[in-house]
Amino acid sequence: MNDFNLAYEQYQSEFEAYATEYALKIQTKPDVLGDSMRYSLLNGGKRVRPVLALACADVLGVPHQEILPYALALEMIHTYSLIHDDLPAMDNDDFRRGKPSNHKRFGEANAILAGDGLLNEAYAICFNQCAKGENYALAAKYLNECAGVYGMIAGQSADLYYSLENDGTEEELWYVQEHKTGKLLLAPVAIASILANNKDFFALESFGRMLGRLFQMTDDILDVTGDSALLGKTIGKDEKENKLTCVKVYGLDGAKVRADMCAHDCFAILEGVSGDTAFLKGLVEYVLRRSN
Ligand code: IPE
Ligand code: IPE
Ligand code: MG
Ligand code: MG
Ligand code: MG
Repeated sequence: MNDFNLAYEQYQSEFEAYATEYALKIQTKPDVLGDSMRYSLLNGGKRVRPVLALACADVLGVPHQEILPYALALEMIHTYSLIHDDLPAMDNDDFRRGKPSNHKRFGEANAILAGDGLLNEAYAICFNQCAKGENYALAAKYLNECAGVYGMIAGQSADLYYSLENDGTEEELWYVQEHKTGKLLLAPVAIASILANNKDFFALESFGRMLGRLFQMTDDILDVTGDSALLGKTIGKDEKENKLTCVKVYGLDGAKVRADMCAHDCFAILEGVSGDTAFLKGLVEYVLRRSN
């Protein structure tokens, strides 16, 4: 195993232990609420966002225990967005993270509540952080902006809206990608910088944005070229649902070329970040070449 893979696994397992400990303590009445939240939160995700948070914390010298609560809140918000994204009223997907989607396992109503539960738990974690000082509160506020009606939710709304149209423009495509996916990849990078008194904030913010763009581009490409067993989700859904994707706008080859260009932009931006960015460069390569 190379250095990058080893470091990725270490970050992943550190996060997994933290998330599992927290999630097992969630006790609900009836049990189905907590069970459905844990079903989607634990086991199966790549944990790219928490890994990115921990890696940026290392670049900036932020202790892991300072960023782990935000990494968990973020992964809870991401997981809730996936549960709702899969609902029949949205993308109508039956598989997620290699298992039946939450609504397939628990029914639609429980899946909606599992998403609501994860979202509220995420902010419970953030409120606890806020009491620790100004930077902690600013980091929580940044996460809220990325996740909310000017962030991921706006992107999801635009994704649905443009799927009713036939000719999406590049500008509309960028709006969808920057918001529905980009904002939740920007959040961990920016939060690490905020906790480090805004060290390298502008360079890291541009990096987060570009990486988010690359991440959704490869997601769109994998929806066409991927293997659903490896991906843990159904492929071919975007064309079926008339989604405004980079494959639709640029064609498959055009999308691949643009993903390459985007990865090069990420590398160039990282040159402006002080500290050891070798792992972040590896992460760009991983996102570009990923098969899941
Ligand atoms: C999938 O996200 C949805 C998008 C925002 C593109 P991930 O590919 O990070 O999914 P998991 O967390 O690994 O399941
Ligand atoms: C999902 O985008 C983005 C969010 C859930 C916020 P997609 O709909 O493309 O993600 P997949 O392909 O279902 O994972
Ligand atoms: Mg979607
Ligand atoms: Mg989807
Ligand atoms: Mg997709």
